[in-house]
Amino acid sequence: MRFQFALTLQAIWTGMCHAAMQHYPAAWGHYDVCKSQVYSDEGLTWDYMACQPEAADMTQFLKVSLDPPNITCGDPPETYCALENPYMCNNECDANTEELAHPPQLMFDIEGRNPTTFWQSTTWKKYPKALLVNITLSWNKTIELTDDIVITFESGRPEQMVLEKSLDYGRTWQPYQFYATDCLDAFTMEPKTVQDLSQHTLLDIICTEDYSRGYVWKYDKTVRFEIKDRFALFAGPRLHNMASLYGQLDTTKNLRDFFTITDLRIRLLRPATGATVVDESSLSRYFYAISDIKVQGRCKCNLHANSCVFDKEKLSCECEHNTTGPDCGRCKRSYQGRAWSAGSYLPIPKGTANIYCECFGHSNRCSYLEVINTVICVSCKHNTRGQHCQLCKLGYYRNASAELDDENVCIECNCNPSGSVSDHCNGTGYCTCKEGTTGPKCQECLPGYLWENGCKSRVCDNELLRCQNGGECVSNRCSCPASHTGLLCEKPRCESELGGCKGPESGQASLRPPSLCSVLTLLLAGVALWRETPRRAAAL
Ligand SMILES: *[C@@H]1O[C@H](CO)[C@@H](O)[C@H](O)[C@H]1NC(C)=O
Ligand SMILES: *[C@@H]1O[C@H](CO)[C@@H](O)[C@H](O)[C@H]1NC(C)=O
Ligand SMILES: *[C@@H]1O[C@H](CO)[C@@H](O)[C@H](O)[C@H]1NC(C)=O
Ligand SMILES: *[C@@H]1O[C@H](CO)[C@@H](O)[C@H](O)[C@H]1NC(C)=O
Ligand SMILES: *[C@@H]1O[C@H](CO)[C@@H](O)[C@H](O)[C@H]1NC(C)=O
Ligand SMILES: *[C@@H]1O[C@H](CO)[C@@H](O)[C@H](O)[C@H]1NC(C)=O
Repeated sequence: MRFQFALTLQAIWTGMCHAAMQHYPAAWGHYDVCKSQVYSDEGLTWDYMACQPEAADMTQFLKVSLDPPNITCGDPPETYCALENPYMCNNECDANTEELAHPPQLMFDIEGRNPTTFWQSTTWKKYPKALLVNITLSWNKTIELTDDIVITFESGRPEQMVLEKSLDYGRTWQPYQFYATDCLDAFTMEPKTVQDLSQHTLLDIICTEDYSRGYVWKYDKTVRFEIKDRFALFAGPRLHNMASLYGQLDTTKNLRDFFTITDLRIRLLRPATGATVVDESSLSRYFYAISDIKVQGRCKCNLHANSCVFDKEKLSCECEHNTTGPDCGRCKRSYQGRAWSAGSYLPIPKGTANIYCECFGHSNRCSYLEVINTVICVSCKHNTRGQHCQLCKLGYYRNASAELDDENVCIECNCNPSGSVSDHCNGTGYCTCKEGTTGPKCQECLPGYLWENGCKSRVCDNELLRCQNGGECVSNRCSCPASHTGLLCEKPRCESELGGCKGPESGQASLRPPSLCSVLTLLLAGVALWRETPRRAAAL
């Protein structure tokens, strides 16, 4: 199941969304992650908004557990009395008969049925031992509350109760609100109401008597945790100034956390008795019965997603902005160039910047350059450079078979320092060679050049008497006798038609197999740094 939307923030909060939906359905598909098309005086325009999923009925996605586990009535079957009339004790709870069973799921089914369906506890048979029940609602996902939590009791509201919340999947719990007919007596707290709170005391945990008193339980069935009244402290009584609330939420983590939960726990501590004294002769009148629990909220996606999916019994955000995790609480791999941060509630240009500079994992720091309104990676590692560390440093070239986020993406050019013009190479690792030099790294000589800290065209001169086997130096080149060849006349000349080489040992040469000629040639070549040339004739 998926819920996805594109509404302006104001629309969400004021319920204008339905109007927008009915009047401009054509605009529906044309939205981007953080903007939606809206109709204004100038026609259709883009409205930028926080990236967050639509608020939904969160009770569809929860797991409920009861403590003690066998506290639901009906196993074994039992009769109970109406609270207002102890002589009406013909009600029966039987877990094994569908019409008489009151399992926990009935707290979350559709209301409006007749008769009302509800979960019910066992009766208070063990009085004066307290009748304690914990009802724990778990989402295994952080959610943000957007409306009041409303619990509807079918047999009088509890005289003492605590609503607790967890932000860490049930490991630790904090009270959210205390409820009692007498706060001082039950919790040694001064009774307060949400109207006593101000912007400064909004986070205070209060005990309220608003939802516990009054015996006319048929008309006062609900217990609330007031979210909207708290929002109103920032957004005004009719929530008309949500921007003010968002501004606060953007900057105040405590405030954000206050409305964020992973679990809720309703701790029922004392059932309705309808009187100050418990009638011990009729304990079957006392029990808890809940017909409905409302929890409206949205997946917390840190303002990096505008939809949330329920898949395999699990809620998770569909993260944008190159973020990931169930709450979009991390940067995706290869997008860790800038430290993760939450998105913004405020529209651009003030908020929703969400710029993630990608550095392909070669830098963990980015810097915003205001002058050019650009974010660049700082101190690219692994021999990379560029705004996103997407290029190789000079002197390195891209390893075509490596991903851009590979540590070895840049390979050193390794240009031969004597043979190359610089230590830079082209995209396939070829260096720029000096005259007479060749090879990818400029490590070889062209024909007619001799390696001497690079390739030199000057083979010999009058001082450097390098020519061998009687060769003479003419214009810096060796002029070889007919018996030899090569740059330095180091190579005996082979006459293949004679089957051997002419030379001082020509007598034996005819006995040798022809291949020895080439062996000798190679040996000499090694000594003289001579290079085989296909243009041997030219050298002669
Ligand atoms: C529930 O279980 C506990 C422990 O097993 C037991 O002591 C208690 O009597 C049971 N209560 C009911 C109502 O069955
Ligand atoms: C309910 O939860 C509280 C803590 O929140 C715990 O102390 C208590 O043992 C739990 N069980 C019952 C039946 O109250
Ligand atoms: C909660 O969700 C995580 C994944 O995010 C999963 O591994 C875990 O099993 C879930 N826990 C429960 C109790 O469903
Ligand atoms: C996320 O990454 C993609 C691909 O690199 C990029 O085009 C996009 O602009 C990024 N989004 C944000 C919000 O940074
Ligand atoms: C190029 O990258 C691939 C894949 O990472 C690697 O196996 C290979 O060794 C790299 N080549 C060089 C020359 O570094
Ligand atoms: C690099 O230079 C070599 C030799 O000139 C050439 O074959 C190759 O195509 C060049 N590569 C690129 C990416 O320009």
